Amino acid sequence: MKILITSALPYINGIKHLGNLVGSILPSDVYARFKRQTGDEVLFICATDEHGTPAELAALEAGQDVADFCREQYEVQKDIYERFHIRFDHFGRSSSPDNHELTQHFARKLDENGFLEEREINQVYSLDDGRYLPDRYVEGECPNCGYERARGDQCENCTKLLDPTDLINPRSAVSGGTNIEVRATKHLFLRQSALIDEVETWIDSHPDWPHLVTSIAKKWIKEGVRDRCITRDLSWGVPVHKAGFEGKVFYVWFDAPIAYIATTKTWGELDPRNRDWKAWWTEGAHVKYVQFMAKDNIPFHTISFPATEIGSREPWKKVDQLKGFNWLTYYGGKFSTSSKRGIFTDQALAEEPADYWRYWLMANAPESGDSVFTIDRFAEQCNKDLAHTLGNFVNRGMKFCEKQFGAAVPEGGDWTEEERAMATELEGLVADYRGHMEAIDFRKAMASLRAIWSLGNNYLASAAPWTAIKQDRERAACIIRTGLNLTRLFATLAWPVIPESAEKILAAFDMAPAEGGTPPWPGTDIEAELTALAPGRPFTTIPPLFKVIDWDRVTELTQRYGGAPEEV
Ligand code: 2FM
Ligand code: ZN
Repeated sequence: MKILITSALPYINGIKHLGNLVGSILPSDVYARFKRQTGDEVLFICATDEHGTPAELAALEAGQDVADFCREQYEVQKDIYERFHIRFDHFGRSSSPDNHELTQHFARKLDENGFLEEREINQVYSLDDGRYLPDRYVEGECPNCGYERARGDQCENCTKLLDPTDLINPRSAVSGGTNIEVRATKHLFLRQSALIDEVETWIDSHPDWPHLVTSIAKKWIKEGVRDRCITRDLSWGVPVHKAGFEGKVFYVWFDAPIAYIATTKTWGELDPRNRDWKAWWTEGAHVKYVQFMAKDNIPFHTISFPATEIGSREPWKKVDQLKGFNWLTYYGGKFSTSSKRGIFTDQALAEEPADYWRYWLMANAPESGDSVFTIDRFAEQCNKDLAHTLGNFVNRGMKFCEKQFGAAVPEGGDWTEEERAMATELEGLVADYRGHMEAIDFRKAMASLRAIWSLGNNYLASAAPWTAIKQDRERAACIIRTGLNLTRLFATLAWPVIPESAEKILAAFDMAPAEGGTPPWPGTDIEAELTALAPGRPFTTIPPLFKVIDWDRVTELTQRYGGAPEEV
């Protein structure tokens, strides 16, 4: 099966925090790795989302030209994701020539098909800032729920999509200035109202979507989908090639999802073997398309982007499965880029290895509701699951073997009822784990993975090779051989989540995948898996994989990043 995976595109304006990471890029990577392991042909695409006012204002603040700013920030983000072991097939840029071209192509098609309409609209102009203020830079009270800091594009409290002129007591989010006026300016509207029936029929053809996704899409439709203004009075962006629209660009949310496709094109053109990139994006081709995103992105992915694709009247592939996430909170409050609250991805990597963050975030993915990050919860769970359960298991087995039998898989002894019972239980747990991963149910998957690691520990504790060795060396050899096989199996199973540690374990048996390679998913015959490492196979004992994050360290991190819950 061909599996196309896209992660919501991270905005270029600054380094992302852990909440952003767990809301799209990290889970996409875990899923992509897993699907590669199970033998599917995977294409994992992402890019920086570079247009719009956030980028312009961040560049202004940095005293840089916006194009230079984006180029630099793209490299910064790319480097961070590499260090998080995110293995994109291509990580592109929404400002790429391919995206300019494709965005203009979509606009032309929509126009030809009668789905674009010119309208003169009133746009907020800030006299204090000397510029038009795009939707999200006008703040005010939400007319729907009364939230005080609703943005002009969407209220993040009740998710209602808004127009800036809907806001009560609007002000500039750039300067806080209320010295704003409304000016008439000509724009292009995507006639979503003319496409919504087709979009809804398409949504209804996916009864398997998660409740979070369908409920947000349906709520939006129920509220009445309005035609959407897809152009802006800005200079940075994809220019609108239409008479009378000189100096205007497309709205960032129009060109960003198109960049999923354009980035695939860029990928395709990098290597002659991938020239047929369009096969990934053609409706009816044997591709399953899975998108990952945080919940505020759901309306754009279930309505606006599909409307763009449908309205082109070209056979573009639409999403098959859509995984939306709730919020990760920082001590119960918001992670916030603007107020630098929380731990950011570069900071996280400077403090602890990527695998600790990857594991904790996936084990606590905000799936059925929001989840809370605190430094002590992070430390506690990493210590318990990674250091004490997995790490100890790996280290104990190898050390004991090396001391008693030498650094090779020991020979002798046959499986007893104890191994057979353990293997039967393990078989069930591995099947559960795989099922949860297939269902993209990460918290459940991580619970199964933990149960698998615990089973290994329980087996060693009850089989007690350190006692057996005193009377029955063969029995001890059998237990340790089984333990080493479990170690290898654990590494293979954990690879999507903690690839660096998993590869260290596999390397100890000289079984690490080649650079960019994938260790195949274990077969269903667990006994075969647990006897795969033949007696005599050498290994290298590895030092403890995970260190314990002790209370001094927790205190230090808490002092550095602040932890007190936000005043509500
Ligand atoms: O919310 C965000 O972070 C946006 N940058 C996501 C864009 S996803 C897309 F490109 F459709
Ligand atoms: Zn609201």
